[in-house]
Amino acid sequence: MKAKLSFGLIGFGFMGHSHADMITKLDYAELAAVCDINPDQLKFAPQGTATYADADDLLASEDVNTVIIAVPNHLHLDMVKKAAAAGKDIICEKPAAMDATQVQQMIDATRAANVRFTIHHQRRLDADLKMAKAAFESGELGDVYTVKSSLYGFNGNMHDWHVYPEYGGGMLYDWGVHLIDQILFMIPQRVIQVYADMRNVINKQVDDYFNILLRFEHGVAAQIELGTYFLCDQDGWFERHWFVAGNKACAYIDGFNPRGAVVTTSQLLENVPGKISMSFAGPTRSFGPPPEGRIISKPLPSAETSHRQFFDRYYGYVEGRNELFVKPDEILRLMRLIDTIRRSASEHRSLDFE
Ligand SMILES: NC(=O)c1ccc[n+]([C@@H]2O[C@H](COP(=O)([O-])OP(=O)(O)OC[C@H]3O[C@@H](n4cnc5c(N)ncnc54)[C@H](O)[C@@H]3O)[C@@H](O)[C@H]2O)c1
Repeated sequence: MKAKLSFGLIGFGFMGHSHADMITKLDYAELAAVCDINPDQLKFAPQGTATYADADDLLASEDVNTVIIAVPNHLHLDMVKKAAAAGKDIICEKPAAMDATQVQQMIDATRAANVRFTIHHQRRLDADLKMAKAAFESGELGDVYTVKSSLYGFNGNMHDWHVYPEYGGGMLYDWGVHLIDQILFMIPQRVIQVYADMRNVINKQVDDYFNILLRFEHGVAAQIELGTYFLCDQDGWFERHWFVAGNKACAYIDGFNPRGAVVTTSQLLENVPGKISMSFAGPTRSFGPPPEGRIISKPLPSAETSHRQFFDRYYGYVEGRNELFVKPDEILRLMRLIDTIRRSASEHRSLDFE
């Protein structure tokens, strides 16, 4: 074993390949072994890497000190338990598990075995989140009352195991855990109330649309909406959007390669009735176009960020230089919230949370 982190990858599909690419860029890490039940996947293993068809055999290898678990979601709990019993440190893909009870079992197993345990929530490092979080924290917006985070697509279709509920399919487990984790990472307050609408718009068995409202302790309401089958011909409609509104300014951030601004007004109104203007719908004080010069846009700072930082921070934690970036207890809270979101959607009512 040459490098400090000697990885074994369990599940060498889409995400397994992405992790293998990332490991080649890390001078403190090496890829010692990969495992997949599909022999075709193992043909792509980098030269010099041991290959296994059975996770138990990879876990028995002394050349591996850390495993990355990148198998379909329903297998995460079993793999985490096995890896902990084998004394390996663990980075598990998101969603950590199928529900909060399973996450608690993972925490118990990894603590009992005294191994490191984290979940790959690398989207805490996305540029769009970084810009939205900077605006939220800047104080420039005044009292923030609403945060909207959305992701829109047009294909609707899901693939492979993602279309089966028993494998952990559906969009709440796929993108939902990222979007909700980002909101919890951004707004450090208790979530007191949850309302969720979830739908199977064109997929028969799994959710492909959701709209979630989270009410936070100090009054911020967050809305997280994902639609996989939104048909729209407007420029810039698809991909990622943030809108963060306060009583002094608002911020918008659009796209995965984000553009954004903080927008304020030259005349902050305090209950002063605006001048009546004529709109197509008739006379209005509040909804006509703003007069020339009234709206002021300021650029948001650009966000230098990279998913590699997830691994850099993990290594820093192993070396005792920083704390763990994604903590098991945060993931337990996230999964408890996801359980509540599912229950709210199935019962068609809002639920108290923390
Ligand atoms: N963090 C992210 O941004 C991100 C992105 C995509 C996927 N993921 C997560 O990564 C995980 C894998 O997703 P994917 O898209 O790579 O799926 P995938 O289907 O492309 O790959 C999964 C691989 O696991 C293998 N496998 C199944 N059972 C196995 C077993 N018992 N032992 C060993 N290998 C086994 C399959 O043969 C397959 O090659 C999921 O949990 C998913 O949610 C995370």
